[in-house]
Amino acid sequence: MGRAEAAAMIPGLTLLWAAGLGHATPSPPRLRLSFQELQAWHGLRTFRLERTCCYEALLVDEERGRLFVGAENHVASLSLDNISKQAKKLSWPAPVEWREECNWAGKDIGTECMNFVKLLHPYNHTHVLACGTGAFHPICAFVQVGHRLEEPILLLEPRRLEDGKGKSPYDPRHRAASVLVGEELYSGVAADLMGRDFTIFRSLGQRPSLRTEPHDSRWLNEPKFVKVFWIPESDNPDDDKIYFFFHELAVEAAPVLGRLTVSRVGQICRNDMGGQRSLVNKWTTFLKARLVCSVPGMEGDTHFDQLQDVFLLSSRDPRNPLLYTVFSTSSIFQGSAVCVYSMNDVRRAFLGPFAHKEGPTHQWVAYQGRVPYPRPGMCPSKTFGTFSSTKDFPDDVIQFARNHPLMYNPVLPIGGRPVFMQVSAGYTFTQIAVDRVAAADGHYDVLFIGTDVGTVLKVISLPKSSQPSSEGLLLEELHVFEHSAAVTSMQISSKRHQLYIASRSSVAQISLHRCAAHGRACAECCLARDPYCAWDGVKCTRFQPSAKRRFRRQDIRNGDPSMLCSRDSSRPALLERKVFGVEGGSAFLECEPRSLQARVEWTFQRTGEAAYTQVPTEERAERAARGLLLRGLRRQDSGVYLCAAIEHGFSQPLRRLALHVLSATQAERLARAEEVAPPAPSGPKLWYRDFLQLVEPGGGGGGGGGGAASSLRMCQPQHAPRAPGPEPRRKGRNRRTHASEPRAERGPRSAGHW
Ligand SMILES: *[C@@H]1O[C@H](CO)[C@@H](O)[C@H](O)[C@H]1NC(C)=O
Ligand SMILES: *[C@@H]1O[C@H](CO)[C@@H](O)[C@H](O)[C@H]1NC(C)=O
Repeated sequence: MGRAEAAAMIPGLTLLWAAGLGHATPSPPRLRLSFQELQAWHGLRTFRLERTCCYEALLVDEERGRLFVGAENHVASLSLDNISKQAKKLSWPAPVEWREECNWAGKDIGTECMNFVKLLHPYNHTHVLACGTGAFHPICAFVQVGHRLEEPILLLEPRRLEDGKGKSPYDPRHRAASVLVGEELYSGVAADLMGRDFTIFRSLGQRPSLRTEPHDSRWLNEPKFVKVFWIPESDNPDDDKIYFFFHELAVEAAPVLGRLTVSRVGQICRNDMGGQRSLVNKWTTFLKARLVCSVPGMEGDTHFDQLQDVFLLSSRDPRNPLLYTVFSTSSIFQGSAVCVYSMNDVRRAFLGPFAHKEGPTHQWVAYQGRVPYPRPGMCPSKTFGTFSSTKDFPDDVIQFARNHPLMYNPVLPIGGRPVFMQVSAGYTFTQIAVDRVAAADGHYDVLFIGTDVGTVLKVISLPKSSQPSSEGLLLEELHVFEHSAAVTSMQISSKRHQLYIASRSSVAQISLHRCAAHGRACAECCLARDPYCAWDGVKCTRFQPSAKRRFRRQDIRNGDPSMLCSRDSSRPALLERKVFGVEGGSAFLECEPRSLQARVEWTFQRTGEAAYTQVPTEERAERAARGLLLRGLRRQDSGVYLCAAIEHGFSQPLRRLALHVLSATQAERLARAEEVAPPAPSGPKLWYRDFLQLVEPGGGGGGGGGGAASSLRMCQPQHAPRAPGPEPRRKGRNRRTHASEPRAERGPRSAGHW
């Protein structure tokens, strides 16, 4: 039996080919903003405690206006409006005895034998439940945060400490996945010191503590839990289910395939009480199905096998939120993807055939026999049957449930493929948060994706016209941390329009939108396709769907400024700047578009001629990242150079530079007249930088390149009434000229490609 054949025993469980993506290149963001830029211009705020690492647990409390943060030996309470001010902190170290025990067990006293606070849940009107690793001795506490309208407080209840076993992991490197429903905590965690006894566990509350069957690889096979959610199934609370998201080793893979990772969604009933004679104090309603996130290809599918995070985007129907997920790969090929699932598809998999293996030498197949009643996975309730407790379930139901936790059919993403992916980008996705935004032409889901290098990608999901699917458009890459560190947690406040991002080193806060960063022209604002922003006739500002639409220009679906911005009388004209060069020397014509997805086009109007021609790229004219370098200048190179950014089939003039090529003697005379630095030695050795000093004095903008920020500003069209440039070419004709560009596919569109 071949490898591919062996893998195909469960549908979709094929090998991790990266076949379909062999030539894929990462898509550049439209805008890349550095930590310094975000801090200086876009209100980035940060929070960190002295000598404290590992910010991992974030809890947004909209009512109190607080952000609770769990870190090494600390819990902090910050203002949601500005995390840099009014911080309250609570020190919560592990007791010395526990730290010594931890050290004796062979763990590092300085990096492992600490209390890493892993989870924070709102518990009741006055308290938050916090759990930490407690130096490999998990511990939970109730933290008093005060009533809603009171002055914020943060106090540990020393009399009500709880055992954290089965709630928080032991190992600081492990993640905690849990949800608090009522007074009950449902968690997926390793419940032993060695980190081998992985379990889905219910604790606290009134109902009995339940867990998964231990040491049964069919139930759980070295899982890594990612997220847990409580999702109602019907109007009857007896049908409520808890869904667990994790990845684990595929028990259904043939041994020849080795250790194959698969991602899962698991379910249990909230009202599960365990079995009466068998599966006592164990789940009787546990089922799991495979979550597939793959790209179909000719030579096989490319699988993103490692689920990293799940975000529940609620809809009007509480039973049917959308599941936004991020995946990475466990193979050598570096890639990550966003897949979206519907709850109906998840439920359909749990209603489908059970996976069945007759004996050790048999293959996994779809179970064909009779399924006992009530069907395993159904909750005991009046909605679907007559059983009032899982303890009343017949023995054959319990036996079947014990032997068939895995479903045969996988859950496929909406549209059958990822909505967004990055391959070989130098980073992978770790976290996701989603905001649904009302724009002028409909609703859009804006995805904020945290990466393992400490960046946040802002992506909009655009509906594809042909399929019931959508495609992602990378708008921004935000460097929210000073130093690269994986994003460990991310929370969104749609109400306050803020995003909170945690990493090992600190917590950051950033607004969901930065409209001014898109540019100062209508076309730039329109091309940005940011649903939060619109052109108000003067600048790019926050879009308010309720406001009058007449003056708000926005086109998210098409990003076509030719319709929206053509009547824009306030369009700034380009100011002409003079640049001097010396015969035989060089000149650098600086022009850098704001958008990294734009292509730069240079046209040239020779002095004394009317027609514009393309600047040929030959030995003498070299396109550089930030402009055009002309070498071996000749007198006939004098003329007007127009730089335009071509994006999405639309051409936007950026700069207008008038180059005057002088003879060496003229240059010397000019330099002396202006009393600038003595001219550099003339001739072919003259480097363009020497010539930046010869730029017309008072010509605006000053000479040299300077920092990235100054360069961006210089590329702005100048607001000046005089010197109207040539009409920007943005008629329908122009659109068609560029229609052959790869627009639908996210191909190589980097500004570096000429
Ligand atoms: C946030 O608070 C800090 C500290 O009080 C202050 O310096 C900063 O200006 C505030 N930022 C904003 C955007 O309010
Ligand atoms: C919240 O829970 C804590 C811990 O059990 C308890 O001490 C406190 O009285 C509770 N508060 C309310 C308002 O029920």
